[in-house]
Amino acid sequence: MRTTVGIIGGGPAGLLLARLLHRAGIDCVVLESRSREYVEHRQRAGMLEQGTVDALHEAGAGERLDAEGLVHHGIELRFDRERHRVDFPSLTGGRTVTIYAQTEIVKDLVALQLAEGPPLLFGAEALAVEKPESASPVVRFRHEGRERTLTCDWVAGCDGFHGISRDVLPAGAGRSYARSYPYAWLGVLAEVAPSCEELIYARSERGFALHSMRSPSVSRLYLQVPEGTDVRDWPDDRIWDELAARFAVDGDWTLQRGPVTAKSVTPMRAFVHEPMRHGRLLLAGDAAHIVPPTGAKGLNLAVSDVRVLARGLEELHRTGDSRILDHYSELCLRRVWQAVRFSDDMTRMLHTRADEDAFDHRTQLARLRRITGSRDAAAELAANYTGLPLPL
Ligand code: FAD
Ligand code: DHB
Repeated sequence: MRTTVGIIGGGPAGLLLARLLHRAGIDCVVLESRSREYVEHRQRAGMLEQGTVDALHEAGAGERLDAEGLVHHGIELRFDRERHRVDFPSLTGGRTVTIYAQTEIVKDLVALQLAEGPPLLFGAEALAVEKPESASPVVRFRHEGRERTLTCDWVAGCDGFHGISRDVLPAGAGRSYARSYPYAWLGVLAEVAPSCEELIYARSERGFALHSMRSPSVSRLYLQVPEGTDVRDWPDDRIWDELAARFAVDGDWTLQRGPVTAKSVTPMRAFVHEPMRHGRLLLAGDAAHIVPPTGAKGLNLAVSDVRVLARGLEELHRTGDSRILDHYSELCLRRVWQAVRFSDDMTRMLHTRADEDAFDHRTQLARLRRITGSRDAAAELAANYTGLPLPL
């Protein structure tokens, strides 16, 4: 097989890139190792910056997002049994965020792709990228029990944190930066109306908790748990009791309980590989960088990388100008590091650690009080949360 852009990975990054390239008249093939059923039901992100919503519109995937996405104008910070609201529009000149599940984005993009092309192969596992420095790199992959090759002009490595694209880079071609956190998130999906209108980020002595949602009848909740936690140690009643304890406030507020339909534990880490390009292999999204989930930046970063990558390929295709592709890595990495910094700040401010002392607790609370007590500090959080300016 031959194509202009070989895309490894059919997560949000790979699928969105394929749509944007298709609209620009550039042919591509997407290789996804898992099944359609699997990628459409993998529970993950839910909070979209305006730039992400705009990119999905640009890709022709805005219809259901507009109809079903929940536009949010702020978040609540909870600590010391108090409630504090951060209002986005008044702090950012009108910005908002949209709650729409990653599962639904993937379903919308897959449906478009299967209806309009270009090819999207499920069960197609990339094994290696050969000759990334040459003008015709080759992706070797396994599909329907056979080994095959895809010869490309460019390869987009959109295969997530555990993919193979990053491993193709020769040792010495760049550097990675990593941080792991000594806790994880237990995420649950529950068939119950959310107990709040906006997301709640709660810091309590018992640890962090987050109340999010997927629709007016489905809640998404997260609990900080020790790293290595086994979900089997968390029966539903224990989860609800712990959530209720961490969200407890002085005054009236009740956490509504309901049937839990999914549970999983996610480790928390930050990782960045620099540069994001080697020859004609370009990394995008989680393949190049991950952030701890506090602040919801991962999917949004994947989308901002893909916008730059699609513009770069489009510019080259239309005018022969390769400047965006030549600077792809620098263009993306500035914003990536801002998101890493923000996610790290939010994570440290809201989680508790076994090795903390009273001094750490006091400075954590002082940070939260600064945000809730100063318009400038709140505006800084709001600007980061709703999304810093895009690279292009
Ligand atoms: P992925 O979604 O990982 O997609 C990569 C794809 O490549 C997968 O489909 C995989 O099957 C495929 N693949 C892997 N290896 C191969 C191979 N060898 N050959 C072919 N295909 C391969 N982000 C936000 O912005 N907002 C949030 O609210 C948010 N919440 C989160 C909550 C949780 C609990 C978690 C875990 C993450 C959250 N994130 C959030 C992060 C977000 O989900 C990721 O950043 C996002 O999925 C990245 O998209 P991607 O396409 O780069 O990678
Ligand atoms: C969600 C996840 C996050 O990490 C976050 O900060 C906000 C929302 C979510 O899955 O809805």
